[in-house]
Amino acid sequence: MKAALYDRYGPAAEVLRVTEVERPEPGPGEVRVKVAVSALNPTDYKSRSGSTPRPIDGFQIPHHDGAGVIDATGEGVDPARVGQRVWLWFAAFGRRWGTAAEWTVVPERQAVPLPGSASLELGASLGVPAMTAHRCLFADGPVTGKTVLVAGGAGAVGHFAIQLARRAGAQVIATVSGPEKAELARQAGADAVVNYRDADAADQIKAVAPRVDRVVEVALGANLALDLALAGLGTVIVTYAAEATDPVLPVRACMTANALLRFILLYGVPADALDHAVADISAALAEGALTGLPERRFPLSEIVAAHEAAEAGPVGKLLVIPS
Ligand SMILES: NC(=O)c1ccc[n+]([C@@H]2O[C@H](COP(=O)([O-])OP(=O)(O)OC[C@H]3O[C@@H](n4cnc5c(N)ncnc54)[C@H](OP(=O)(O)O)[C@@H]3O)[C@@H](O)[C@H]2O)c1
Repeated sequence: MKAALYDRYGPAAEVLRVTEVERPEPGPGEVRVKVAVSALNPTDYKSRSGSTPRPIDGFQIPHHDGAGVIDATGEGVDPARVGQRVWLWFAAFGRRWGTAAEWTVVPERQAVPLPGSASLELGASLGVPAMTAHRCLFADGPVTGKTVLVAGGAGAVGHFAIQLARRAGAQVIATVSGPEKAELARQAGADAVVNYRDADAADQIKAVAPRVDRVVEVALGANLALDLALAGLGTVIVTYAAEATDPVLPVRACMTANALLRFILLYGVPADALDHAVADISAALAEGALTGLPERRFPLSEIVAAHEAAEAGPVGKLLVIPS
């Protein structure tokens, strides 16, 4: 099969190549999926570049996320799953068979049925972002009737945080850096959108809600003063991204707010919480409560350009089409 792969870490143009490899067979408990759409996330290029290195088993086909159709099942898997449209998560986690190839094999729980109403592009966009958003929102209990602040509401994680929080019955306020992203956050369903660069951003948010209960935070250092200005007893600030420089923690201000800080890395989230995320995301998909961000598509032969575009910090979702 055709696959994009690397066998050492480095810049995309130096280490990524498209080549033929033997098509994998599904092992016990696994399914093989003919990949229709592969989706890129920052973790994929961070693994490839070596900035967050993960062991390479001979070669590594990148990308956790994707969508396609099951075409073979391994021992112990119901053969009736052949022909099922699925969305994939964690395909490349501890395995060489990422989704940037014509086929992948994954443990069957990581190939989740995709409702007929959902496109393969949307299915491919879910994995890392929607599951991270779910964990950020629900690690500390339901958000029904609460106010959620989503920092970076036009980002991939932020987008699904808005949609999953709205579906759960929360009031959602999103921050963005400009009008194009504000429109994306509004389309995602945010009740209010504020530019975090405005000097009076806290006042604008307080005019909507005097305090927030949860913050889904992409840049803790940059936004901590804003978050604390909106925090009160029981507010949980949940950080899922590291900035170039670690923040200095203003302990007195955190104490005064009586806030809780939580940190999330999807790779370490317990299995039952991942299953909970898959179930909720599937239900949301079936209800039509999830939509995608604007898409930019690359053929597999342009995998290097796709990775370089991802590293440039794009607006929207980058998809790679294997065949
Ligand atoms: N912990 C985990 O398990 C986990 C899971 C998924 C992703 N991540 C990490 O999370 C980060 C975002 O991932 P993604 O896929 O959502 O990326 P993305 O689609 O590029 O979105 C990032 C968003 O953050 C916004 N942003 C940047 N600085 C901001 C600030 N100071 N305040 C508010 N918003 C800000 C960006 O817009 P502007 O720059 O225009 O504001 C952009 O919309 C990446 O570093 C990724 O590696 C971690």
